[in-house]
Formats: sequence, structure tokens, C-alpha cells
Amino acid sequence: MARDEIKDLADEEARSALRLKWGEVPAGTVPAWVAEMDYAPAPVVTEVLREAVEAGTTGYPPFGDLGVGAAFSGFARRHWGLEVAPEATVVTGDVVAAIRLALDTLCPPGPVVVPLPCYPPFRVVVDLCGRPLVPVETDPDDDEAVLDLTAVEQAFRAGARTFLLCSPHNPLGRVWTRGELEALRDLTRQYGVRVLADEIHGPLVLPGSTFTPYLSVDPTAILVTSASKAFNTPGLHCAQLVTLDAGERERLRALPMPLNHAFTTFGMLATTAAFTDGDGWLAALVERLDGQRRHLADALDDHLPKARMRPLEATYLAWLDLREYGVDDPAAAGLRHGVRVAPGSDYHPGLAGHARINIATTPERTRLAVQRLGAALEG
Ligand SMILES: Cc1ncc(COP(=O)(O)O)c(C=O)c1O
Repeated sequence: MARDEIKDLADEEARSALRLKWGEVPAGTVPAWVAEMDYAPAPVVTEVLREAVEAGTTGYPPFGDLGVGAAFSGFARRHWGLEVAPEATVVTGDVVAAIRLALDTLCPPGPVVVPLPCYPPFRVVVDLCGRPLVPVETDPDDDEAVLDLTAVEQAFRAGARTFLLCSPHNPLGRVWTRGELEALRDLTRQYGVRVLADEIHGPLVLPGSTFTPYLSVDPTAILVTSASKAFNTPGLHCAQLVTLDAGERERLRALPMPLNHAFTTFGMLATTAAFTDGDGWLAALVERLDGQRRHLADALDDHLPKARMRPLEATYLAWLDLREYGVDDPAAAGLRHGVRVAPGSDYHPGLAGHARINIATTPERTRLAVQRLGAALEG
């Protein structure tokens, strides 16, 4: 497998490449908030996009999936030993749209269980679908960050029939073990609950942990995923809803076009290239993020010694418990000191003293971000 280099973006490059992450912070502020990486895209992605731009491929996407399903099949087999037929993929515009589509068309009626903290749009999309949300809180004092199955069962007993799983978990950075997922599966079978598994962070599992695709423990689950997080292409808008039930796929494909049309030709081409030829770049990325994880731990030791960091098993998003500093909103304090991290209460409403920091950048920027957060909280 060819090994690629991860190319860091200089500040000026990052400002023009990442219009949200870098554009929405005051000049001089270190952006460590939204889930984008300060790295140039994988060369296989750049190449296919360059060719598409030069060929003027700016029209509507064709019917079909431009190879996305087959590419994902190969990727899932190589990385996780998971067999998913190419036709199991239905292309969507993004993962949040896929969740909405699944809730509206495939999931049983009734409340939806969402473990907290959660990726904030989960709460919004459940609400937009007119579903009551049943939160299951993760105990902030539990270092293992385990799923509270007693609370989950209570929610099922009270009538919830969908479980929205984030695996690996953003923002906890957890990679659920096979045993944990099997226990969840057993409970969902007992109560007739459908699992909707968001595995967008699946390719970003760091050394020391093993990713278990939820479809491998429960083939009746619905998978939503995308190459966009691992390959830094969220603006291209291409994600996937995967169900192993052919009848459900037929129903999805027969939906009126405005219910699922916001995917792009560029996104499909980039996804197919990334999942087919991106393994070398992805391996280099994971190695890099593993290094960043160590840099973060060192920087915390030096500048934020009272922080508790949940073990970061996947993703480049670390969940920091900063309650020892006695500041309710560490992110707001950080912003006043030149660093933007994401407020913990965005992920768990009402939870004080937490923040999520994005470490997909250089060691120097991560250290500066932590240093500034430290100055904000110590001050
Ligand atoms: C768990 C999770 N799901 C979905 C998304 C967003 O995916 P998309 O941009 O495809 O909607 C993110 C983005 O960070 C995420 O962390």
C-alpha cells in the first residue's frame, strides 16, 4: 500500500480552504471547534476533482451512484471484514439528511433514544421529524463512558422504538466494544427497537481500539455514513444510507425527488475515489492523529493540569472535563483568550465545565490552543 504524506495547511491556506472553521473566528484566534481537519485533501480526492473540474462536470448527478456503493463495499471488506453489497447503499446529500430520511421513512413511529452528550444536529433532526427524544445521559464522572443500559431499557419499556447510535462516538471519542454493541442489540431485539447507526467516524479509529461495524452485530440496523469526515470533504455533499433490506431500498429509491436530491457529482466522485484508493492516505492520517493525541496529552499536562481527558479512542475530537476550574462555559472563556473550542453544553444541554477540542491540526496549534484555554481558565 502506497503511503501518503499528510500535508499541513499554513494559516493562509487553511483560511481559504476551510471557510467555516477558519473563517468564523476572529483573526489570530486558533480554530479548534468544528470537525474539519487542517490538512490538504488526499491526493486521490484532489486528482479526481481536478479532472472533473477540467472536464466541466458541473451538471446534475446521474441516476445510480457513480460507484459509491461498490467503493464502500470494498472499503468495508478491507478495513472491517464487513460484507455489504454495492446495491445496499442509497446515496444521500449528507449524514444528517440520511438520518432524517431514515427516521421519516424506515424507523418505527415513536420516541427516539439519543445518548448524551451527542452531536448537536441529532437533537434538531429528531425534533424536525416530529419525534420525542429520550436522552440517556452518560455520567460525566464515569471514566469508561459506558452506555447506561438500564436507562436505555427504561426508555424502551416506556415506548421508544428507535435508538440513534453514534459509533465511534462524537464527542466522547469512544469506540464501543463488540460486547457493548451486542448487549445493546439484545435489548433492542427484546423490545422491537430499530437501531440507526451513524458511523461517519468509523474510518478514524486510532491504534489500540477495534471498530465493530454495527451491521456485523445486527444486520437489521440502518447504517448512515460518509467518506466526508475521514477525507475532509463535507462541503461536497455525499453520504450514504445503507440497509440490507432490498424492499426498504426500493422504497427509498422511489421517494419523490425533493426528499433526497441534495448530493453532488463532485461528492460522489470524491467518495468513490477515497473509498477505493484512499487507504494509504487514511493510514498516514490515523498515524498523524495518533501523534496529535499524544501532543494533546502533553499540552494538557503542561497548561491545563486539572483537565480530565476521556481516552481518545477514535476521531480527532477530544472531550475535556474542565469542571475543576470552576468555569461554567470554558469555550466562552477560551474565545476571549484567542482559542475557539466547542462548548460542552452544545452536546449535552445543561452540562457545565466541558468542551470539545479539535486536534486535527499541527502540534504547534494544538499546544497554542491548550495554552490559551489554560490561560483563560487559570485567569
Ligand atoms: C457523528 C456525526 N454525524 C454526522 C456529522 C455530519 O455529517 P454530514 O456533514 O454528512 O451531515 C458529523 C460531523 O461532524 C458527526 O460528527
